[in-house]
Amino acid sequence: MQHLNITFIGGGNMAEALISGLTQSGHNNQHICVSDINESRLNDLHQRYDVTINSNNASAISSADILLLAVKPQQMDAVLADIEEQVPANTTVISIAAGVDTARLKRFLNSTTMGLVRVMPNTPALVGAGMSVLFSDADESHKKRAEYVLAASGETAWVDEEKHMHAVTAVSGSGPAYFFLLAEVMQAAGESLGLSKELAAKLASQTALGSGKMLVESGRNAADLRAQVTSPGGTTQAALDEMYDSGLPDAVRKGVSAASKRSKELAA
Ligand SMILES: NC(=O)c1ccc[n+]([C@@H]2O[C@H](COP(=O)([O-])OP(=O)(O)OC[C@H]3O[C@@H](n4cnc5c(N)ncnc54)[C@H](OP(=O)(O)O)[C@@H]3O)[C@@H](O)[C@H]2O)c1
Repeated sequence: MQHLNITFIGGGNMAEALISGLTQSGHNNQHICVSDINESRLNDLHQRYDVTINSNNASAISSADILLLAVKPQQMDAVLADIEEQVPANTTVISIAAGVDTARLKRFLNSTTMGLVRVMPNTPALVGAGMSVLFSDADESHKKRAEYVLAASGETAWVDEEKHMHAVTAVSGSGPAYFFLLAEVMQAAGESLGLSKELAAKLASQTALGSGKMLVESGRNAADLRAQVTSPGGTTQAALDEMYDSGLPDAVRKGVSAASKRSKELAA
C-alpha cells in the first residue's frame, strides 16, 4: 500500500499526526498530498515531511486512492460540497471529524462508487501512540486501506455499529484530557506538599507513562494492577480510600457519560 496516493484535505494537528506516522512507517512521501486553505501551514508540512501540497481541494484529489477528510466538523459540509463531483471512483474516503456520521457524508458522496470510513482518532497519535476506532459498511478492500493509514500512528479497533462512536468519543476521543487532568491535579498536590514545580511535573508525567505501559504491556487489567500496589493499611490505601469517599469513580463515570451525551447532541 506504500505507493497508494493519499490526499489529506485539512492539514492541521490530526492530519500532521497521521502524515508523520505514515512517513515514518515507510509510506512514500511523494504519494502524500495535503490540501489546506492556509498557505503557511502547507509550506510547513512540505518542509517537514517533503509531501506534495496544493491549495485547491478539487485538484488535490484528482488522483487520490485514499482521501482523508481532516477539517473541523463545522468546515465539513463546505468541503464536501466543494469536492462531491470530483472524487475519483473507487476512492477510499476516510473522515476523522468528530460527530460527522456516515449518513452526512453520504448526502454528498456516492457510497456506491467509493468506500466511506468514519474514524475517531485521539491526540496521542501525535506521538505514535494513538487509539483510532473505525466504522464502515464498505467492502474489505476499503477497510484494509483505512486500517493501513490509521495503524501508522497507533492502535486501531473496529465497531460494527456506528452508534457506538458516541461511547468511543467519550472514552478514547476525549479520554486523553481525563488523564491530563489527573496529572495536573497530582502535580499541583505534589507542589502543595513542598516539591518543586519541575520535580512534581516529572513525577506525575513519568508515573502516567509507566502506568500506561504497564496497562498495555503487562497483560493484567487495571483493577489487578491497582490491587498490586495497594498494601492494606499503607499509603496507597489511604489515598484510594479518600478518593473513593470523595466520589472520584462516580465523577469519572458521570464525565464519560456527559461526553457521550454531548457527542449525540452535536451529531443531531
Ligand atoms: N484534535 C483532537 O483531539 C481530535 C480527536 C479526534 C478527532 N478529531 C477531528 O480531527 C479533525 C481535525 O482536527 P484538527 O485538530 O487537526 O483541526 P485543525 O488543526 O483546525 O485542522 C484543520 C485544518 O483544515 C483547514 N481548513 C479549513 N477549511 C478548509 C477547507 N475548506 N479546505 C481545506 N482545508 C481547510 C484549517 O485551516 P484554518 O485553520 O485556516 O481554518 C486547518 O488548517 C476535526 O474534525 C476533529 O473533530 C480531532
